[in-house]
Amino acid sequence: MNKEAMTGKLIVFEGIDGAGKTTQIRLLEGYLKEKGRPVVCTAEPTDLPSGKALRRALSGEEQKTPCELAALFTLDRIAHNIQPEVGITALLKNGNDVICDRYFYSTLAYQGAETDAEWVRSMNLNCPEIRHPDLCIFLDLLPEESMKRINRRTETREIYETSERLERVRAQFHAVLQTFDPQSVRIVDAARPIDEVQAEIRKIVDSLLQS
Ligand code: TMP
Repeated sequence: MNKEAMTGKLIVFEGIDGAGKTTQIRLLEGYLKEKGRPVVCTAEPTDLPSGKALRRALSGEEQKTPCELAALFTLDRIAHNIQPEVGITALLKNGNDVICDRYFYSTLAYQGAETDAEWVRSMNLNCPEIRHPDLCIFLDLLPEESMKRINRRTETREIYETSERLERVRAQFHAVLQTFDPQSVRIVDAARPIDEVQAEIRKIVDSLLQS
């Protein structure tokens, strides 16, 4: 097998909170494993020190400005990429597919809406230590439905979990996603039953693996 063939794919899931990323990622992981592909699931914010600082900020425990948040998410992403052995770059190089729950599209949508969007975009897309995904799947859901799911799931609210804010973030996500190659960024209607959503995701991933 040549070096190119050994490289795995980086597949990112995005969506507003409550869109069903966790469930769909778990099902896709099972599917890829059944196909005999080594796969590692990961998420941002990470469990690294930068990710822990982000969690404290998201819970409201520590105040951060929009620019600080944007920079910290980007720093966390760099650390996520370059960590030895378990970082995204190393995992892909060793032939694993990597499924990541959130990536730079989230920073562009959430932080881009709160500060200078061009600065946030450039910091992420032009960073040599942040890999560009092979595929981004955006699970699209109306904020009202997403709030219902969030309320069923948990008592605690993170700072982005209010309906008006989700509405703004969803609009921002759509604006951001339009600026990427439509082949690599796919919008999937997440209001449908879990199995239907997963079937569409598998089709999209199959065509990526064949390309
Ligand atoms: P999670 O609920 O998917 O774990 O994500 C935690 C929160 O972090 C979620 O409300 C979205 C937010 N977030 C950003 O604002 N910017 C980012 O770059 C990422 C990765 C997440």
